[in-house]
Amino acid sequence: MTIAMPDDFHVHLRDGVMLEGIVSHTAASFARAIVMPNLKPPIATTEEARLYRDRILAVAPGFTPLMTLYLTDRTVPDEVNRAKDSGFIHGIKLYPSGATTNSESGVHDLEKLYPVLARMEQMDLPLLVHGEVTDTSVDVFDREKVFLDRHLKQLPRTFPGLRIVFEHITTREAASFVMQSPKNVAATITPHHLLLNRNSMFRGGIRPHNYCLPVLKREEDRVALLDAATSGNQKFFAGTDSAPHERSTKENSCGCAGIYNAHAAVELYAEAFEEVGKLDRLESFLSHHGADFYKLPRNKSTIRLAKKTQTVPDYYDFGGQKVVPMRAGETISWSIERDS
Ligand code: NCD
Ligand code: ZN
Repeated sequence: MTIAMPDDFHVHLRDGVMLEGIVSHTAASFARAIVMPNLKPPIATTEEARLYRDRILAVAPGFTPLMTLYLTDRTVPDEVNRAKDSGFIHGIKLYPSGATTNSESGVHDLEKLYPVLARMEQMDLPLLVHGEVTDTSVDVFDREKVFLDRHLKQLPRTFPGLRIVFEHITTREAASFVMQSPKNVAATITPHHLLLNRNSMFRGGIRPHNYCLPVLKREEDRVALLDAATSGNQKFFAGTDSAPHERSTKENSCGCAGIYNAHAAVELYAEAFEEVGKLDRLESFLSHHGADFYKLPRNKSTIRLAKKTQTVPDYYDFGGQKVVPMRAGETISWSIERDS
């Protein structure tokens, strides 16, 4: 199968010694990627994003990082203008404070930031949302649904012109909310949420490498996501949420959240689409819908996918840091044919 080169609309590339190895995986399959800003400290200004982008380009010339800013309680409306005018910033990411890895600097009270959202609407800069409440009295498996009811539903009404991406959706409710919303509301879907349900975290024992946020949900949710992704609906597109962590921080008494899939994300999406006989919809999900939503030209280059089994290594070494990838030590039924 030959398809237009995909884009990844949600990825964590990290920084420092890990950066080069990680970017090389993403750049091998994706022409462009929306780069998450949750570094420590976060990428909160246009200037910080410019320097981070330079570090990425230094190790991956030819790859196009689409930068984002991290919305904090201190973000000012004028930062939106600086971001938009830069030409290289394509969205601002909302992390409710405490919702996920490196979200300590996130937002405590979204309404206080309405002037920033109003400016984003005016400047046509998308808002990317990690949609989970952080209220510890809410069951961890319900945090997305509750966020949807408490916060997300009112956003398109308050800011009808704002483009909103509901990131890495994990529930049937989130998929149907996006379907019923106006066309400026879209969602990314990860390969792991299309292929795994929450049982995979407990198969024969606790499986820390299948722990991510938002946490994997029920089989009926997985099926609903697969339906949405393969429906041909332009509101749904690929965002891998590939989120590498050094092995010892996952195999730990308090293991952190994140699944690394950049080594084979396109092949994993192919497996998911094949499962429901919708390989003919793979290209639009991977290579068209996201570009159109972000108002970017579609990629002209192509990649070739073959139904050929590959074995995934037990780990990758990124500058001395070991990362255990999705399907470590197992196989994936698709491969990308690379011209050597
Ligand atoms: C991400 C990370 O590690 O940065 N983790 C994850 O489980 N997805 C953060 C995020 O996207 O929530
Ligand atoms: Zn993420």
